[in-house]
Amino acid sequence: MTAINQKKSIKLDSSINQILTKSVVNKSTKVDIEEVLQQHLLPKFGERFKQYRKKYINFLADSEHKHLPDYPISVILELVNRCNLECTFCYQGYRNDAEKKTLSIQDLEKLFQDFKKNKLDALLLSQSEPLLYKNFDKILEMAEKAEIMDQFIFTNGVLLNEKNSKKILESSLTRLFISVDAATSETYDQVRIPVNKNALKENRLKKIEENVKNFVKLRNSMGLKIPLVRVSFIALEKNVHEVNDFIEKWIDIVDSVEVQKESSIELYDQLLDKKYDKNKLLLKKYNCNDPWGQVSVNSDGTVGPCCSTVGRNLPMGSILKNSLKEIWDGQKLNKIRQSFRDNKPNRVCQLCLENKKTNNYSGGVVSSCSEIK
Ligand SMILES: C[S@@+](CC[C@H](N)C(=O)[O-])C[C@H]1O[C@@H](n2cnc3c(N)ncnc32)[C@H](O)[C@@H]1O
Ligand code: SF4
Repeated sequence: MTAINQKKSIKLDSSINQILTKSVVNKSTKVDIEEVLQQHLLPKFGERFKQYRKKYINFLADSEHKHLPDYPISVILELVNRCNLECTFCYQGYRNDAEKKTLSIQDLEKLFQDFKKNKLDALLLSQSEPLLYKNFDKILEMAEKAEIMDQFIFTNGVLLNEKNSKKILESSLTRLFISVDAATSETYDQVRIPVNKNALKENRLKKIEENVKNFVKLRNSMGLKIPLVRVSFIALEKNVHEVNDFIEKWIDIVDSVEVQKESSIELYDQLLDKKYDKNKLLLKKYNCNDPWGQVSVNSDGTVGPCCSTVGRNLPMGSILKNSLKEIWDGQKLNKIRQSFRDNKPNRVCQLCLENKKTNNYSGGVVSSCSEIK
């Protein structure tokens, strides 16, 4: 896959243009997400759950960085570095040819002990494709034992078959997020491209839609409201005409439907080619809250200072060598925090924030998790 998303020049009408340029993110919900979470997690965790929600909302709003928690509020965990798709808009297309990396169960056990000791609030299994990790149910078991309250899986839904759905429903997962990005099969095949091109002979969208519907049916038949199920749609020139059909198709089936803004992957070209045109910088003030609340742990053990895939270019340490708590308190993360206070971030952070600016995007770059709430 080429790095830069090849965009055809399509003449778009003004309402479509608005969707593509608005920072939002249209969120349609059938249930009160916060209420369902509360009903489920308050009896289990009591005051700790209340503190988590408070801490998380404060973190999103704390642009002056008054509070630094003792440990990240959320950790984004990448189990493998591979995906069975190479979506046109996703950074993963750069990585599917890379040497295979998988976090070992021993390293994960050590990491989850650290989570338990430091009372991690939220864990997001994302980046690449989490369901490609053979024993992902073991990870969910470890998350339950570590008493992590809010547990997310982000998946493309390809492997959300009956067996995996049952494994998920036996776990304490709180949110299952499935990325779909299309209302018709033709469009799906244009944006969510399979690595194995033979798969293009099948009606893949129909299969994923069935997987999601069957999951919800099974969950409901078990009398459960959790995990909350969300489907998402990144608005692109190729699919934006299907936004309304997408929302209508799903709103009565799942708990929430989210339309998100694309974050351009052109940034990676600039990072890889080390092209850096200082004249193109637009921002006067660089700010990012992530290093005060969330980090990513990558499948090679390195830790990024944020939930953004871009943060991969800023290794803060490795869980293969140090505990996450040591990395969180370490010099490298503190240096990044200080650089924002001084408004002098490094090149990667600067480019990441410039990219958000040019995209008119208010969340993180790629697989934004700061906006989840
Ligand atoms: C990187 S994927 C990893 C999990 C899984 N493979 C999936 O597709 O959901 C996590 C989320 O990031 C989103 N994403 C990927 N590339 C993006 C981009 N360029 N802009 C905005 N969101 C993006 C995906 O649509 C997905 O919802
Ligand atoms: S968005 Fe998800 S499914 Fe698509 S290539 Fe990226 S990681 Fe894979």
